[in-house]
Amino acid sequence: MPTCNIGILVSGRGSNMLAIIRAIERKRIKGARVAVVISDKREAKALDSAMRHGVDAVWLDPAEAASRLDYDMRLLDVLKDKGVTPKDGLVLLAGFMRLLSPEFVEAFGGRILNIHPSLLPSFPGLRAQEQALEREVKVSGCTVHFVVPEVDSGPIVLQRAVKVEEGDTPETLSARILRQEHLIYPIAVRLFVEGRLKIEGRKVLIRGK
Ligand code: GRF
Repeated sequence: MPTCNIGILVSGRGSNMLAIIRAIERKRIKGARVAVVISDKREAKALDSAMRHGVDAVWLDPAEAASRLDYDMRLLDVLKDKGVTPKDGLVLLAGFMRLLSPEFVEAFGGRILNIHPSLLPSFPGLRAQEQALEREVKVSGCTVHFVVPEVDSGPIVLQRAVKVEEGDTPETLSARILRQEHLIYPIAVRLFVEGRLKIEGRKVLIRGK
């Protein structure tokens, strides 16, 4: 099996990024390497963490780009440069706070995953955990999905439910959901790398399950 080069896009803390780097280090995901981590924020903690694990980390400054499309084409260049190609690479969004242009998404069609802290299609967009609390749901969770041009709407790969407890705050609920994110994102990446995910319309078929 050829090695799948992974590019991870981040903007902040990078705990999901770390979960994936560690899963590869511990050989829970085989046949893959994180070729580069790219952040749109210079101060992102994720950049330091990636470097500490020997992963190339790049800050790509949005202020240098003429437009969203220009930025995304620069992203594409860095990814390709590091061997993350639309043909056999994988792009992971891990707390990346920018919207991707349809051109970028189409270029990598079916090879971009995202993790979102709610049970989609409930509570897409920002502050998903707060939205869940405001709506007084009893259960929330997290979702790994393929990325399509519309935000948080792509075919769903895996989900984990998390109980909302009496007295939960956005912080306590987020922390409980995050623990599940760290479990399901590496599993989804492994399934992708093993070639076991097949998109059929809205549905993701998981082979060998
Ligand atoms: C996570 O809650 C993820 O679901 C959302 O952004 C947050 C990123 O956290 N997309 P981290 O940077 O991975 O720690």
